Amino acid sequence: MDPAATRIATTKMSTWKSLSGGNDDKPVTVPRIRGAKGEQPLVMITAYDATFARMLDEAGADILLVGDSLGMVVQGNDDTLSVTVDDMIYHCRAVARGAKRAHVVGDMPFLSYQVTPEEALRNAGRIIAEGHAQSVKLEGGRTVAPVIERMVGAGIPVMAHVGLTPQSVHAMGGFRVQGKSEQDAQRILDDAKAVQDAGAYALVLEGIPGPLADRITEALEIPTIGIGAGVGCDGQVLVCYDLLGLTADLHPKFVKRYDQLFDRGVAAARAYCEEVRARTFPGPEHTFGLTKRPRAVG
Ligand code: KIV
Repeated sequence: MDPAATRIATTKMSTWKSLSGGNDDKPVTVPRIRGAKGEQPLVMITAYDATFARMLDEAGADILLVGDSLGMVVQGNDDTLSVTVDDMIYHCRAVARGAKRAHVVGDMPFLSYQVTPEEALRNAGRIIAEGHAQSVKLEGGRTVAPVIERMVGAGIPVMAHVGLTPQSVHAMGGFRVQGKSEQDAQRILDDAKAVQDAGAYALVLEGIPGPLADRITEALEIPTIGIGAGVGCDGQVLVCYDLLGLTADLHPKFVKRYDQLFDRGVAAARAYCEEVRARTFPGPEHTFGLTKRPRAVG
């Protein structure tokens, strides 16, 4: 086998083994995600449309998060606060169409779950029924525990999110690392336990010191998925635009860029601009003729 083919075959094998330990491409479900704790690292990546979903699913991501980060990377806002439930449904539908194996999680936007548990349940239900997400994610600890209980009771699996919670950007005074003092660390640990007790099946830990993430991961029975939370979580999540190098002007410490797609996109589009101006594109090979090509005989 040539080296490229071996590389592809190995990649496929590791994709299939990523949760079950066996060779299968079975859909990733909530019980499989829970069962991964202590067994296999969970891989979550954000996705916002069908093409990216197809690409990231093919790469072997276990979970595709339709994050409200779309308010920043897709819509161009400075924060996530203006994303609506209708926006989420639109993007979840697209991602669900592109995903084959990966579990699709729909983020609950700001104020879609904080007003009343009834409204929260209705909005989560729309993200599942109309957006075709398989579970929802929401930010917060003890204060959202009753909402999580309500959703889980209605059959909606919930991924929770504590630490740096971007929907509280104004209360936090910016996107700042949380849990640095012992008192704040204890608050986040208590929040983590509260959302687990309320029935969350997994927990995102964002923007907290590594040792605190380790402490929470050890204390919980549900998997933790870290972003800017060190090496000890049960899984990791990155925003797809960050990991692919599409967010050219942002360089947070916790992001590793696996490519520079922004720069490569500029170069490719620049080549197109130049060829159109030089009249070297389109060429005859891109041009339709008036007559049909004669059929081969025989
Ligand atoms: O919205 C989002 O993309 C997120 C991840 C960063 C966890 O919540």
